[in-house]
This record gives sequence, C-alpha cells and structure tokens, in this order.
Amino acid sequence: MEHAYSRLLLVFSVLALCLGNQGVRCQLTSDFYDETCPHLYTIVQQHVFAAMRAEMRMGASLLRLHFHDCFVNGCDGSILLDGSDGEKFAQPNLNSVRGYEVIDAIKADLESVCPEVVSCADIVALAASYGVLFSGGPYWDVLLGRKDGLVANQSGADNGLPAPFEPIDSIIQKFNAVGLNTTDVVVLSGAHTIGRARCALFSNRLSNFSATDSVDPTLDASLADSLQSLCAGGDNQTTALDVSSADVFDNNYYQNLLHKKGLLSSDQGLFSSPEGIANTKDLVQIYSDDGYQFFCDFWWSMIKMGNIPLTGPEGEIRKNCRVVN
Ligand code: HEM
Ligand SMILES: *[C@@H]1O[C@H](CO)[C@@H](O)[C@H](O)[C@H]1NC(C)=O
Ligand SMILES: *[C@@H]1O[C@H](CO)[C@@H](O)[C@H](O)[C@H]1NC(C)=O
Ligand SMILES: *[C@@H]1O[C@H](CO)[C@@H](O)[C@H](O)[C@H]1NC(C)=O
Ligand SMILES: *[C@@H]1O[C@H](CO)[C@@H](O)[C@H](O)[C@H]1NC(C)=O
Repeated sequence: MEHAYSRLLLVFSVLALCLGNQGVRCQLTSDFYDETCPHLYTIVQQHVFAAMRAEMRMGASLLRLHFHDCFVNGCDGSILLDGSDGEKFAQPNLNSVRGYEVIDAIKADLESVCPEVVSCADIVALAASYGVLFSGGPYWDVLLGRKDGLVANQSGADNGLPAPFEPIDSIIQKFNAVGLNTTDVVVLSGAHTIGRARCALFSNRLSNFSATDSVDPTLDASLADSLQSLCAGGDNQTTALDVSSADVFDNNYYQNLLHKKGLLSSDQGLFSSPEGIANTKDLVQIYSDDGYQFFCDFWWSMIKMGNIPLTGPEGEIRKNCRVVN
C-alpha cells in the first residue's frame, strides 16, 4: 500500500514539475479524451487484438514503435512521418520497426468517429500498452494528451537510439540523455520478453567473436549452436528475443540472462558485463526472482518513457499519421 502511495506522489510531482515548463507534457492525463473521443479505447483495443490474432508478434512490434518514437524528439509520432529524410530510414528503424499499418488503420477509424481529436503519438502509446496487456503483461492507465510533432529527425534516431553492440555504459548514457535512469534501462529491456530479432543483430556473437573466443563466452553453448544453424540462412532470419516464452510477457527474460540465454549482446550484458558505473546485475537478479516487481516497475518506467520531454515546438493533431497537416 505504501508502495502504491509513493508512486502516486511521484505522478503528482511529475505533473507539478511540468507546470513550470513549456506546456505540452504537463497536460498528460488518463482521461484526456473521455469527453472528446470516448470510443478511443475500444477502437484501439479492437485493432490491436485483431492484429495480434493474425500475428502475436505485432504486440511486441507496437511496443517497440512507441519506444523508438519517444527516444527521438520525445513521444510525438515523429517516427510515423514518411519521407526519405524520415526516422523510418534511420539505421535502427529501417527494415526493422513494424506496425505502421496498424496505426494507420486505427487513425482512419478514429478520424471517422472523432476527427482531428486524437494524436498519432497517443495512438502509438495506447497501442503499445494493449500490445503488452494482450501478451499477458501488466495494464496501466496510459497518460494521454500528446501532440504530433512537425518534424522528423533521422540523425536524432541514428544517434539517440541504442544499438545492441554498444557497451552497457553507453546504453545507460543514451537513456540518461532522455531522463531515464539505470533502473529504467534494466526494466524496459524486459520488453525483450516478447518479440523477435534478426540474425544481423546478434550474429557477431556466433563466430569470430574476439581474438580469444570464436563464440561469445557469455552465450550458452547449445543456444549458440542452434543460432548458428538458424543464421546460416542469412542476416534476415529471425528468432525469439526470449527463448523460453517468445510471445508471453513474463519475467523469463531475466531468468534467461542468469543462464547465458540472452539473445542480444545488450541483453546478456546487463547480467554478464563487468561491473561498471551501474550495477545492473543486481536488478536482473531482482526481476528474475520477482515477476510482480517487474510488472510494477515496468508500468512505472513506461509512464516515464511516455513522458520524455518534447524537444521541438508544440505540434498538432495530424489527420494522417504519415504526413504533417
Ligand atoms: C536497452 C537498449 C535496447 C537495445 C540495444 C535494443 C535493441 C533491439 C534490437 C536490435 C531488436 C531487434 C531488431 C531487429 O531484429 O530488427 C529489438 C527488438 C525489440 N525491442 Fe529492443 N532494444 C532496447 C531497448 C528496448 C526498449 C526500451 C523497448 C521497449 C520498452 C524495446 C522493445 C523491443 C521489442 C518489443 C522488440 C521486438 C520487436 C518485434 O518483434 O517486432 N527494446 N530491440
Ligand atoms: C536532431 O537530433 C540531433 C541529435 O542527434 C540534434 O543535434 C539536432 O539538433 C536535432 N535536429 C532537430 C531539427 O531537432
Ligand atoms: C530511477 O528512478 C526511479 C524513480 O523513477 C527510482 O525509484 C530508482 O531508484 C532510480 N534508480 C536509480 C538507479 O537511480
Ligand atoms: C575475424 O576477425 C579478424 C579481426 O577482427 C579479421 O581480421 C578476420 O578476417 C576475421 N575472420 C573471419 C573469418 O571473418
Ligand atoms: C534483408 O531484407 C531487406 C529488406 O527486405 C533486404 O533489402 C536485404 O537485401 C535482405 N538481406 C539479406 C541478406 O537477405
């Protein structure tokens, strides 16, 4: 109970701090569209549910879409903008980020029931939360009221999003740069309890790894064997980020790390890299022991990520998520 109370206080202090700033972020509330678009929740739910029934993985894809949106210019739907200078073409997103069509379909329905009311950035945030919920993860009241940005920032996406080859310290710095801390890094990495990754993102661990080891010594040998067979098929082959329950949102991700079964270098590094400035290892241990703690902390870190401040000017409500009005 005390726990819940201190979280509530934190929500309030986040809101209060905002009042002094530019505006947009401060107005995020869970009832933002209750008067103006009460059907919002049902519409987003139906689309996400149908998309996941066709392909379970889409829940994961929508969660990642929100993350990649928020890390560049704040959560402003900038990732959705088409155009060759868009974020879609940045290295971490190209041929990798998915779910744009689901967002388009939701937006089309919303424009017919409550035109020009719901921002694309909010649709992405809500879709991500249902992706988690329908995968068996926690439910949280998504805070809404974001505006859609007017510009994309391709170099911002290239520089601001973490790569799986980076050392943990450098990943932590990228999270710090948007106001998230080491706990958030470990908790949000738990998103890799669902979804897939391509061989291109981890095959460096499978052969010619270093001067002394052909295979990454922090990768379980039998998992390495099966990944080698898979990746003989090429860089576009995909496999589960969570080898023990690919489509279920649970704390198996952390348990895998204890057994050298993290897929990406940046996953396994949370547990296996030499202790640096931050002790991520202890947090991995905590979440592997206590799935309830993971769920609680996950929703809180998602609220924090959804509140990353906008860097640009206050935006608009786009009519079409792919272009500015
Ligand atoms: C900590 C630094 C992180 C790194 C280095 C990282 C890297 C990656 C990479 C390389 C992939 C596979 C991409 C591909 O195969 O094309 C991936 C997938 C994924 N990431 Fe992350 N990620 C990080 C944090 C996060 C966070 C914070 C979230 C969300 C809260 C997230 C959610 C996901 C999901 C759900 C997938 C699977 C997507 C799908 O199947 O479509 N990741 N990540
Ligand atoms: C884009 O992001 C970079 C950081 O990588 C930043 O230096 C630059 O000012 C941003 N540009 C815009 C237009 O926001
Ligand atoms: C990160 O921030 C949260 C509050 O959002 C706090 O509870 C946690 O202790 C912080 N973690 C670290 C490592 O500072
Ligand atoms: C292995 O890596 C070394 C140096 O990193 C490189 O010189 C060599 O060509 C690589 N071998 C193969 C088979 O890729
Ligand atoms: C992987 O897929 C992308 C996009 O479809 C394609 O451009 C690329 O050539 C493929 N790479 C390999 C190694 O098949």
